[in-house]
Amino acid sequence: MILVNKPFLPPLPIYQSYLEGIWKRQWLTNMGPLANDLELRLKDFLKVNHLLFVTNGTVAIQMAIKALDLTGEIITTPFSFIATTSCIVWENCKPVFVDIDKNSLNIDADKIEVSITEKTSAILATHVYGNPCDVEKIERIAKKYNLKVIYDAAHAFGVEINGRSIFDYGDISTCSLHATKLYHSTEGGLLITKDPNLLKKLAYIRNFGFDGPENFAELGINGKNSEFHAAMGLANLKYIDSIHQKRKELTLRYDEKLKNLKAVRPIWHSNSENNYSYYPIIFESEAFMLKCIEQLNAHEIFTRRYFYPSLANSLHYLEKQELEITDNIARRVLCLPLYYDLTLEEVDLIARHLLRIQNN
Ligand SMILES: Cc1ncc(COP(=O)(O)O)c(C=O)c1O
Repeated sequence: MILVNKPFLPPLPIYQSYLEGIWKRQWLTNMGPLANDLELRLKDFLKVNHLLFVTNGTVAIQMAIKALDLTGEIITTPFSFIATTSCIVWENCKPVFVDIDKNSLNIDADKIEVSITEKTSAILATHVYGNPCDVEKIERIAKKYNLKVIYDAAHAFGVEINGRSIFDYGDISTCSLHATKLYHSTEGGLLITKDPNLLKKLAYIRNFGFDGPENFAELGINGKNSEFHAAMGLANLKYIDSIHQKRKELTLRYDEKLKNLKAVRPIWHSNSENNYSYYPIIFESEAFMLKCIEQLNAHEIFTRRYFYPSLANSLHYLEKQELEITDNIARRVLCLPLYYDLTLEEVDLIARHLLRIQNN
């Protein structure tokens, strides 16, 4: 059986060595030494100024919206994971969907301006599969209309653009360290900002708003993460280079073996390198893609329609909206298995199946 994803696990003795420290200290959560150490190491690794380790990537988005005091309408992408949209609604704002670019699959920056109204407070865009949005254009629009920018960078761990961390763009970037991500802490998330005042506010929000044992500086929630999760993050960080290398090898193998498949890949930002977080392909037709899914399943090979359906026309709590490119792409896109323990032979097998289905 080949699953679409399997989490990376560090060698057990490495994780156990962190557990021994936790047992000695009996400090399990509330910004413990491992969580602090993880933040310092990630800041260094990612080359960012300020970073907070939080519960997960969803709470990170909610905290970002809260910290920026966003109200009214937030311009966003319909081609993302549900959390990007649901967090906007959860924070009592209205998502305004803008169609995506057919090559990058990110929000089409050229279509943002026509959707701006006097109620717009921000742009919340996703770097889909880790592929950077048109951050320069989005920054120019945000400046012109005095809007805040949040990037849902859940997929973009380790991505750089023009030699700079992608997390450095926008007012706040959020990341997910969920077990399905290329780098994970079991559950977990990150908040990144260049602004020290915003960092301070986010740190208060993460801890119920506490400013000392009896004072509250902000309206807060529990956005903290535990020492056990930090331990997984620290252990996995030791392997990040080999994780990256292995995923790159698998990706290049797919590229080579699937060059005759009638399908295309999203086009990556020209000033950035892929972090190999997913292997999406866009088929010529939904019918052919469904046939591939069915036949791969019959051989116990599992894929994922990610992202499908469009968030703009599938949520009962929002007015439905048709967006031509998103609807079209979402119907034809499929992510193939990609994870550290996948073998090159398994990639060959998946490719053989796909080509056989096409040629039959
Ligand atoms: C684009 C995107 N945003 C947000 C999230 C939410 O992250 P988490 O699962 O850590 O809450 C995910 C998770 O899959 C995601 O893919």
